Amino acid sequence: WSLWLLLPHFYYFLGLFFFLNFLHGAYSDDDEDKIVSNVECHYAQARIGECIFDLGDCAYIKGEGTQKHIGKILEFFKTTDGEEYFRVQWFYRAEDTVMKEAADFHDRKRLFYSTVMNDNPVDCIISKVIVAQIPPKIGLKSNSIPSSDFYFDMEYCVEYSTFRTLLTGKIHDLSLPSCTETVPTTATSTFFENMPNHGPHKAELALLDLYSGCGGMSTGLCLGAKLSCTNLVTRWALDSDKSACESLKLNHPEAQVRNEAAEDFLELVKEWQKLCKRFAVNIVERENKQRSMSQRVTRNSVNSPSITRNSVDSPKVTGNSVDSPRVTRSSVNSPRVTRNSVNSPRDVDIPPGEYEVARIVDICYGDPNESGKRGLNFKVHWKGYSTSEDSWEPIEGLRNCPERIKEFVRNGFKSKILPLPGDVDVICGGPPCQGISGYNRFRNVDSPLDDERNRQIVIFMDIVEFLKPKYVLMENVVDILKFDKASLGRYALSRLVHMKYQARFGIIAAGCYGLPQFRLR
Ligand SMILES: C[S@@+](CC[C@H](N)C(=O)[O-])C[C@H]1O[C@@H](n2cnc3c(N)ncnc32)[C@H](O)[C@@H]1O
Repeated sequence: WSLWLLLPHFYYFLGLFFFLNFLHGAYSDDDEDKIVSNVECHYAQARIGECIFDLGDCAYIKGEGTQKHIGKILEFFKTTDGEEYFRVQWFYRAEDTVMKEAADFHDRKRLFYSTVMNDNPVDCIISKVIVAQIPPKIGLKSNSIPSSDFYFDMEYCVEYSTFRTLLTGKIHDLSLPSCTETVPTTATSTFFENMPNHGPHKAELALLDLYSGCGGMSTGLCLGAKLSCTNLVTRWALDSDKSACESLKLNHPEAQVRNEAAEDFLELVKEWQKLCKRFAVNIVERENKQRSMSQRVTRNSVNSPSITRNSVDSPKVTGNSVDSPRVTRSSVNSPRVTRNSVNSPRDVDIPPGEYEVARIVDICYGDPNESGKRGLNFKVHWKGYSTSEDSWEPIEGLRNCPERIKEFVRNGFKSKILPLPGDVDVICGGPPCQGISGYNRFRNVDSPLDDERNRQIVIFMDIVEFLKPKYVLMENVVDILKFDKASLGRYALSRLVHMKYQARFGIIAAGCYGLPQFRLR
């Protein structure tokens, strides 16, 4: 029994061991951790060339070939053999970390603090550099980057491939063990202030499950969160498979389940933000302001029938656009529609080819009518027709009915049919693994990101970048660490670190956490 019980842990540690050794080939270098012990005396300063160096100064230090490393000088000392050394604590450039080439889009001035140090001959010091610590901040604008040669805001923990935020104005005490396997507790108030919609004690955390399948991962996360007294709720889920979506609805009746491709979802949430800015946000803000200002407020102008039309949205309106928003239906899409004269007493007023929008019932981005043109579409319920006659109409064809669109957006905004930046606390997801898994003998080894399925890792990160959740969990097969020298895994980590997330690569055996399987992820 004990052997059986230990097995998953054994696999886990074995996996972690291979994983860390694989990612950090540098460990094989004997000089990496060289510490000299035959010290005769220490110095507080050293003259190198024309320059005086003090303890605590940062310097360019000779590397292999023409490469210059950057480090902070901690000690100057002479050995009993009369050799002069200095102890250096290293900063890592993005490409020197586990991210490697996948970090080539990072700011060249951004370094990562580390507690890795070793001893080197004094003649390795080249010149001084200025390295500034800056507070962790999401979406650092280029004009807020300091004028120093380099800056850092995060610590890189080599042993655990982990990037984490440093306390503002305080560099870790080097005497303290730093890169332990504890959960980082280094986030600062400045950091959280920069996060959208931060609430310290939210009663509920909202989850978006991307590539959700039937919702196995989100169900597990929500159950796990409950054990830690966190009320995590799947609010939105997305999968391109219809049956998977239907199953997920059964598991998570509280979720808005979207059956569409992630790339379309990304475009949709961007368009949704624009629609909300135009139609809903001001209205809701105004409502709130009015409510708090005075009880004397009589009516909400939005609901008022005397509202003036938005001329930008409807330049060519004819008829009573507010009450009878007529549009020309996309005939290709609805050839079978016949008008029901009994239910449409107003038909006599409507010219042939025009139909009246009763209400808008859904929204999507893409090409639902297979017309060859992608864009924003609304599902329309037509006045006088049954629900089975509802049809997708491109936004351009609905210029005559901004009131209907406004109504839909306002309601959708209030009930959060789609997430806006700041609405999502957690994004989880397992982008498709078929392009990565070693079981696929035809995977694209030369250029993994040219495989449409692997592009989903890019889309996943683009969605994270837009919605800016507080937490992100991306899962994939262990082959992601072997395939093409782990380029896809490195890419994912690099995107997160670039967005200033504290991030860690890791292998888990879900069996260790209660799942009845041994598979590593
Ligand atoms: C590895 S499974 C995810 C499993 C899921 N996390 C779970 O716990 O059951 C990948 C899912 O991605 C979906 N998928 C593949 N390509 C997609 C795309 N472009 N957009 C959205 N979903 C996609 C597949 O239908 C499949 O359900």
